[in-house]
Amino acid sequence: MRATLIIKNIDNLITLKGENNPRRGKKQGEVGLINNGIVAINNDKIIYVGSGGLPSDIEIDENTVFINGKGKTVTPGLVDAHTHLVHGGSREHELSMKLKGVSYLEILASGGGIHSTMEATRNATFDELYDKANKSLDTMLSFGVTTVEAKSGYGIEDFDTELRQLEVAKKLNEDHPVDIVSTFMGAHAIPIKYKDNPDEFVDIIIKEMLPEVKKRDLAKFCDVFCEDSVFTIEQTKRILLEAKNKYGFIPKIHADEIVSLGGAELAAEIGCITADHLISASDAGIKAMAEKGIIANVLPGTSFNLQEGHFARAKKMIEENVPVAISTDYNPGSCPTENLQLVMSFASLIMKLTPEEVITGVTINGASALGLENEIGSLMEGKYADLVIFDAPNLDYIIYHFGVNHTEKVIKKGKLVYE
Ligand code: NIG
Ligand code: FE
Repeated sequence: MRATLIIKNIDNLITLKGENNPRRGKKQGEVGLINNGIVAINNDKIIYVGSGGLPSDIEIDENTVFINGKGKTVTPGLVDAHTHLVHGGSREHELSMKLKGVSYLEILASGGGIHSTMEATRNATFDELYDKANKSLDTMLSFGVTTVEAKSGYGIEDFDTELRQLEVAKKLNEDHPVDIVSTFMGAHAIPIKYKDNPDEFVDIIIKEMLPEVKKRDLAKFCDVFCEDSVFTIEQTKRILLEAKNKYGFIPKIHADEIVSLGGAELAAEIGCITADHLISASDAGIKAMAEKGIIANVLPGTSFNLQEGHFARAKKMIEENVPVAISTDYNPGSCPTENLQLVMSFASLIMKLTPEEVITGVTINGASALGLENEIGSLMEGKYADLVIFDAPNLDYIIYHFGVNHTEKVIKKGKLVYE
């Protein structure tokens, strides 16, 4: 087969090759390192991964492009499997409150937080939302991210805004090199209007919103913010079971982010693809997730920014055989950064994950968190050619030298899209 692009002499080629699906027993941290690696690509797919030269059945011609990987580290394109990409405004006005010790849930209860981003998002046009998210996607790409999950959730009861967020994500998926996978998250806050009767709003989500989002084919996943004074376990269960069984959405939960409510246990009971956050997940919740093969999508940037001193027990989760993905949670409140490389350093330096566990979390396990483990997330023949070339001599260096961007080039579906 003809190669259109070849990356050769790669000092550290981290393939993540092996069992595709972490739920089938691949131990987190086996990264498939190849020294003096070579990757051959035909159009958008990988056709060869190995060491040294090319086998004789790979043809090259005058149009084949070569990239030299000497002194570099190459990984699969990074996957950011939890973001609130599309939104209006920003919330730097919360910083001074936070420094005085006002908590995230206190700001939310006083009508700020998510409610203030709701207002900014409702007031933003399609083009304004598009331009802002487009800029964020450029930033994400510059850090090596090639696939992003994007949630709605700033329209809430204003369903037109929910739909506008999802339409923006759909259009960006068509226009931008980074792939976007969408999640409907109408259940992101209890609208002030329904404060005394939240079940009425749950009924609206179930009866009116889910069927319309499905009809317009605007989301693959459905997510709920299951939290003290937000959606209860019972309400979360109602929404997600209906989303899954009646409309075929794949369920996810913002689980045990602040208070230990039993979100992890619920994710196992429902059969969610992921439970996200899990800062306060119980031992029983972690066990239940391991038994059911639920992926823990941990978001250390959020813990860092909430400044409450708690991080998800990701090391324990891995020890208990829960596959761990790592994402930014990029949003204007609890984690205003698009920098997945910084979040990787937090995962290692604060959660104590090894660099191998971390890179697994942002590649194959991130892909699995989006149900895309057969297409992306590792460098294997037949998968999409999504790769990052880091100007770093090895994996440890990327994580240890934190807070700066190590990306040199990004290849998305066989095309050089960032350098
Ligand atoms: O994942 N917890 C709920 N949602 C986001 C925060 C959204 C916001 O504060 O605007 C999160 O932390
Ligand atoms: Fe989130």
